[in-house]
Order: sequence, then structure tokens, then C-alpha cells
Amino acid sequence: MDHFTFKDGSLHAEEVSLSEIAAVVKTPFYCYSTATLRRHVDVMREALSPAPHLICYAVKANGNLAVLATLAQAGVGADIVSEGELRRALAAGVPPEKIVFAGVGKTRDEMAVALTIGPDGRPDGPGVSQFNVESAEELEALSQVAESLGRRAPITIRVNPDVDAKTLAQISTGRSENKFGVPFAQAPAVYARAAELPGIEVVGVDVHIGSQITELGPYEAAFTRVAELTRALRADGHLIRRIDLGGGLGIPYRRSNAAPPLPFDYGAVIRRTVGDLDAELVVEPGRLIAGNAGVLVSSVIYRKQGEGRVFLIVDAAMNDLVRPAMYQAWHDIEPVAEPDPRAPLEPVDVVGPVCESTDTFAKARDLPILEAGDLIAFRSAGAYGAVMASEYNARPLIPEVLVSGDRFEIVRARPTYDEMLKRDRIPDWLQV
Ligand code: LLP
Repeated sequence: MDHFTFKDGSLHAEEVSLSEIAAVVKTPFYCYSTATLRRHVDVMREALSPAPHLICYAVKANGNLAVLATLAQAGVGADIVSEGELRRALAAGVPPEKIVFAGVGKTRDEMAVALTIGPDGRPDGPGVSQFNVESAEELEALSQVAESLGRRAPITIRVNPDVDAKTLAQISTGRSENKFGVPFAQAPAVYARAAELPGIEVVGVDVHIGSQITELGPYEAAFTRVAELTRALRADGHLIRRIDLGGGLGIPYRRSNAAPPLPFDYGAVIRRTVGDLDAELVVEPGRLIAGNAGVLVSSVIYRKQGEGRVFLIVDAAMNDLVRPAMYQAWHDIEPVAEPDPRAPLEPVDVVGPVCESTDTFAKARDLPILEAGDLIAFRSAGAYGAVMASEYNARPLIPEVLVSGDRFEIVRARPTYDEMLKRDRIPDWLQV
């Protein structure tokens, strides 16, 4: 459920009409709903309760500081994969003890920062609460860095359960052919090594099998394996007090499709599989929290009559929302002006202005007749939207707006062309 609904003939984010925002901000722009973000946190919390747990929101899904601050104030922690995300999480008020550091390629510099950072970003703090280590090689490096700083790094090992998450190949991570995690069979040896290393403190085990997962079976299989591993590791003398189950629960992108499993049912799988292990649970949802809390609003530039088809050329493009071009992902598209339910639909190709055929949001999509100047909203664009944007074709990054009740605020402004150009340098030898 989200808070984007039609009121008085216009699509609203909570109490604010998207056409009102468009008049102020100009299209294209992203718009996020505070109430929807909060609701998704509540739903996740209810799904996991009463087990002791920490929701570490995957910052990669949407790292805008206002979004992060909204979540931080709701008590949510952060799952980060880079120093940049670490600094964003702290700047938004997420305390270091609620931050877990994931990723296959943590550099030694990033490790040093994460081991010592404080809530104010200064290097004399407690450091993050957990490193999810993805290889034996990373484990050695982390121990060395921690030792050189007089610290011990709290770690889990991310294990790869070789489970097919049955999602898009591009975003599946739990198969043995993926680059992620330590193969299950090697896990006991890596834990044994971890127990020997002076810079390492084992705190738990971690798994993440992929993203936009729409069936519970893969979770059940992976978490069952994790429970078995936890028992075996404990029998070997390791202190496994935390179980990090990753993220990945899917969201409805297409209203006409069957809805993905509810967080409550995901919670039931967790209870069934790892619920009796007396461990603190960590989950890392990104899309579930932010996906349906955001829309991308765009205007029609031209309604172009092609040969046998109509193109709606809109002012958003693949550089603003890359998911359709990159993964052939579906986003529902809705006119901002509420259409008459009896209005005829026509199949149109919705495309952006970028000079590539890939810059196509939808093919033969049935939409009411739209004309130049009309506003449309791409739904479910709050996760992996703005964060994956680029300035391809020298198109400025588009603004982000946060709505709360009847208020809205630009939480990242559109840069000016001057600001864009000033980032480049023409070297002395080219100055004329
Ligand atoms: N934890 C780890 C270790 C991850 O790699 C990810 C996502 C998450 C948590 C959060 O997953 P979520 O709950 O958001 O599904 N750009 C792609 C998605 C890539 C996901 C990468 N990892 C897309 O637009 O669909």
C-alpha cells in the first residue's frame, strides 16, 4: 500500500498534488512519500516481531539524506556498501551501531574508516556494528587493518547457499556462479580461520540471495541452510549471536500481476527456519521500503505518430530511470490527471529523448490518449531510480522532492548547467 492516490482529479502524494509540485519544480522529478516510507518500516517491523531484530535499510536503493533521515528517525539502521553510503547514513543520523557494511570489494581504506568512525563522522568512534565478509581474502585484509588500528572487527561471513532466487539473472546473487559470499562448503574453514585472527571477532552469519524475490521458496531453502550452518558453527565453538538474512523481498511493480508475498509471510518463514536459534535477526530491505514510496513525474514532449505506432516522447529518459533499459523492468505508468474510466485506451511506446533505442520505458502500453504537456507518473520508482541515474547526454540529474502530509520540500535540487560544467577542467596546455 502506498500514499499515491487520485484526489480531486489529480494524482497526489499524500495531500500534495503532483501537478502542483510540477508547476514549482518543473519535470522530470522524483517524488517520495514520507507516510509510505514509514508504513513500509512498520510493516517490516510487525512481520519480524516479537523476535529481537534490526532493520538495516539498504542505502543503495535510495540514499537521499532526507529519505535516510526519515528512516533513521523511525529507528531503522543502514546496510552500506561503500564509504560514500557510510557517510550518507551517518549524516542522516543513523548511529554507527546500527550500520552493517556489506560488499565484495571493500578496500583497506574503507575498512579503516568503517572500523573507527563515530556518529559525527570523525575517526575516533566505535566503528560500524558488523562487517559482512565475502571472502577468505577479505577476512585476512580486514584483520590486518583492524590490528594496525588496535581494533577488532565484528564480522559475519556471508555464505552463498547456492539457491536460485528465481528473480532476474542480473539481480540474483545466491547461486554458486555469482561473485557473492563464501561457498557453503568452505564456510566452516573460513570461520575456523576467523577465530584465529587477532583483528577479528565473529558475531554471526549472513546470507543474501538476490533482489525482487517474489516467491518464498528460495528464502525457505536458504534460511534452512543458514540454520543448519548456525548449529554446526556453534557446535564448533563459534559465538553466532546475530543472523543477517539480507534483503530482496519483491514489491508489486505491475498492478495487474499477482502480488508478491506479504512481509508477514516472509516473517513466518524466518520464524520457521531460524526463529528458535535465540539470535538477533538483521534484515536488509531496500526496495521493500523505498520502491513504492516514490514516483518519477515526467511530461509528454511530443505525441509522435510513427508508422503503425504512436510514440509518447517524454522528458524523462533512461539516464533518469535506467531500470527498463537495463533490466527490461516494468513500471506502471499513470496520467497525473485522473482519466475518465470510460476514456478509450491506445497502445503507445513511451520513450525518452536520449539518442539510443534502448531509451524506451514501455512498448505498446495501453494508456488514455495523452498530448504534449500532459504529466505522467512512473510508479514504483523510489528504489534504484535516482541512485542509478547518470548525466548521459549531458542531462542534469533531476530533482528529488519529499512530501509529508500537505508539505513538500526539494530534497535535492536540479544542478544548474554552470555547476555541471564547472566540474570539468580544461588543462593549461589547451587554454587559448
Ligand atoms: N543486501 C545486499 C547484500 C544486497 O546486495 C542488496 C541489493 C540488498 C540488501 C537490498 O536488496 P532489496 O531489498 O532492495 O531487493 N538495481 C537493481 C537491484 C540491485 C540489488 C542489489 N543488491 C534493480 O533496480 O532492480
